[in-house]
Amino acid sequence: MDPLTALGAALAAAHFGTPLAYYAAARRWLKTPWHIKPDPTYAPTATVAIPTYNEARNIEEKLEDIYRQDYPRDRLEIIVVDSASTDGTAEKARRWATAHPDADVKVVEEPQRRGKASALNAALDTARGEVFVITDADCRWPQKDALRRAVSWLADPAVGAVTCLKKPAADGPAGVEAGYRDRYNILRLAESKKWATPIFHGELAAYKTELLRKVGGFPLDIGADDSHTAAKIAAMGYRAIAAEDLWCVEAVPHNGYHKWRIRRAQHLLQHLLKTPAAEAPPPMRPILLAEKYLHLANPWLLLAVVAAVKNLRDKGLVWEMQEK
Ligand code: GDD
Ligand code: MN
Repeated sequence: MDPLTALGAALAAAHFGTPLAYYAAARRWLKTPWHIKPDPTYAPTATVAIPTYNEARNIEEKLEDIYRQDYPRDRLEIIVVDSASTDGTAEKARRWATAHPDADVKVVEEPQRRGKASALNAALDTARGEVFVITDADCRWPQKDALRRAVSWLADPAVGAVTCLKKPAADGPAGVEAGYRDRYNILRLAESKKWATPIFHGELAAYKTELLRKVGGFPLDIGADDSHTAAKIAAMGYRAIAAEDLWCVEAVPHNGYHKWRIRRAQHLLQHLLKTPAAEAPPPMRPILLAEKYLHLANPWLLLAVVAAVKNLRDKGLVWEMQEK
């Protein structure tokens, strides 16, 4: 075998082999115990923050969704932070709040759009909850006890942040998304069992408010603000986990599915680039190194393989080999 063919083969083996090897390691981690004691009776005060930009279609159903939770109502505060929506989202939220006087709903209206993280920080500034929960307007919590489940994991002093697993809504390009999600959920769970997962979900992420304030709230310069804050909390030595009993349904857009995937991937890259493995607690380092490698380096290997093959083909080597 000539050196270029050998190099191409080695790169291809690394490109396809590393994710499989990581998945195999993850399946082993999955079999280990949590070393965390969730307490289902734990019910601290909680703030649920919903950032909205043009969510008139979703906001009422989202508020209903939270209202249906079996969490003690007097311990639950809901803050909608709307960033100058032009479709009447804030009015709808205010009307809903007036019609439900038994729910503690605040509607904050920002004069201009400064992004999701900035809106979440505005909610964090006034939040009265010991636990701060974020959720996107376009997702659903199918479990009536989602909040209680999320919070039960935070009862353990070792845990700083909790997120959900995800199921795509059962329409649109959801079939594709579902296939991808199974594997993805297994990885998130396995990483969580080992120590912490560096990937959190805006559909439901719950943080200890005190820790969130310590890491300075949500970063304004990183798209995956939910993941980045969780990783910062993990860097302080806390577990940041996806809980095995907590599911959210995410809205998969009908239009612009690929653009949406690319935008989310870009957000994740920004976050992983700015999360140094060396600063993480030792059990989290292999997780971060693997995720960084898989997201930041591995995709380029395939390009290198293609370049190597093209080079061979230009030299006529590939065709010669096929003829033999
Ligand atoms: N207040 C405010 N201001 N809210 C905003 C703004 C803004 O400028 N931009 C977006 N939002 C709100 C949306 O209305 C929605 O409720 C939530 O933030 C998420 O926005 P989406 O547009 O639905 O984001 P996504 O589905 O592509 O990505 C979500 O999931 C990712 C992965 O879990 C976001 O939560 C990402 O931050 C997250 O990383
Ligand atoms: Mn969304």
